Amino acid sequence: MAEATAARRRVGLLGGGVIGGGWAARFALNGFDVDLFDPNPQAKRKVDEVLANARRAWDALTEAPLPSEGAVTIVASAEEAAAHAEFVQESAPENESIKRSLLAAASRAAGPDVVFGSSTSGLLPSLLQSDMTHPERLVVGHPFNPVYLLPLVEVCPGSQTSEVAVQRAVSVYTGLGMRPLVLQHEIDGFVADRLLEALWREALGLVADGVATVEQVDDAIRFGAGLRWASMGTMLTYRIAGGEGGMRHFMAQFGPALQWPWSRLTDVPELTDDLLDRIDEQSDAQAGGASVRELERLRDDCLVAVLQGLRSTGYAAGEVLADYEQSLRQRSDTAS
Ligand SMILES: NC(=O)c1ccc[n+]([C@@H]2O[C@H](COP(=O)([O-])OP(=O)(O)OC[C@H]3O[C@@H](n4cnc5c(N)ncnc54)[C@H](O)[C@@H]3O)[C@@H](O)[C@H]2O)c1
Repeated sequence: MAEATAARRRVGLLGGGVIGGGWAARFALNGFDVDLFDPNPQAKRKVDEVLANARRAWDALTEAPLPSEGAVTIVASAEEAAAHAEFVQESAPENESIKRSLLAAASRAAGPDVVFGSSTSGLLPSLLQSDMTHPERLVVGHPFNPVYLLPLVEVCPGSQTSEVAVQRAVSVYTGLGMRPLVLQHEIDGFVADRLLEALWREALGLVADGVATVEQVDDAIRFGAGLRWASMGTMLTYRIAGGEGGMRHFMAQFGPALQWPWSRLTDVPELTDDLLDRIDEQSDAQAGGASVRELERLRDDCLVAVLQGLRSTGYAAGEVLADYEQSLRQRSDTAS
């Protein structure tokens, strides 16, 4: 069910690839008009395809009264994207100099109070803000793919970032049904990607050594720990695994194993052509001929099922979804 909105809110997006397309969908589905700059001539087609998948996922996810969908317009420059925006989200390639010049140009065109979020997976906000006018309004707002379904966004201030900018970003992201995790200090890779990279590094090592195929790496997660992680994370999982003795008992049993060679930490497998070919071939076989859009729909169906299951428990991401739906209903009641 859609309702009419009086004044349209408007955001600027810089970059419309996997992540920028996901932001476009999350903002548009929440009633924002979106001005998106991406120099790739295929940007409109790609963003439209992500939007179609996002609409499909949200139709299945929630019956709460969403605002009428915003319009997504592809614009010709970063300045144009920022000129009329109340908030700007940058999702250009993970390259410091591209991001810095883009943010600098957009910041000159935006009003002085317009807050900027960068989707960077691990670059430090202190570097990204250094060429901007009013650098105090930049935060990292690091989302997770698919941006339109996963609630987490890591909010990380740089050395010049103001508390007001952090609070504004938190407010915008929360209004989109997201769960901001505000970090106190910047660190390369933030929190989530440091955890994910440790796993990714080990996965590549296991494939490189011929211990497991890419499919077996995925099976090792999705039939076991992956099911727990969606609700319990890793620390609470181990607290429970300690039984009645709790974390202290767990550490007594498995703490010593941290000294044993069970993981590689900073030991990176050499990314030889042979290894890249093997991973590529095994990944294609794993996909079974499905296109990326078909795989996204399969992933989205599974995520919707998990989110709805968690909503019935009111826990973890299920609590975020329930709170968001309640706020949509309240907004709808106030408007009618
Ligand atoms: N893919 C992920 O899972 C993921 C998750 C979280 C964060 N991120 C971060 O999001 C950002 C974007 O990643 P992605 O995966 O969407 O990459 P992508 O390659 O899918 O998209 C990048 C887009 O930026 C566009 N672009 C290139 N130069 C540009 C410029 N000067 N101005 C505006 N747009 C430009 C490209 O045409 C492309 O469409 C990166 O910082 C990445 O680290 C990625």
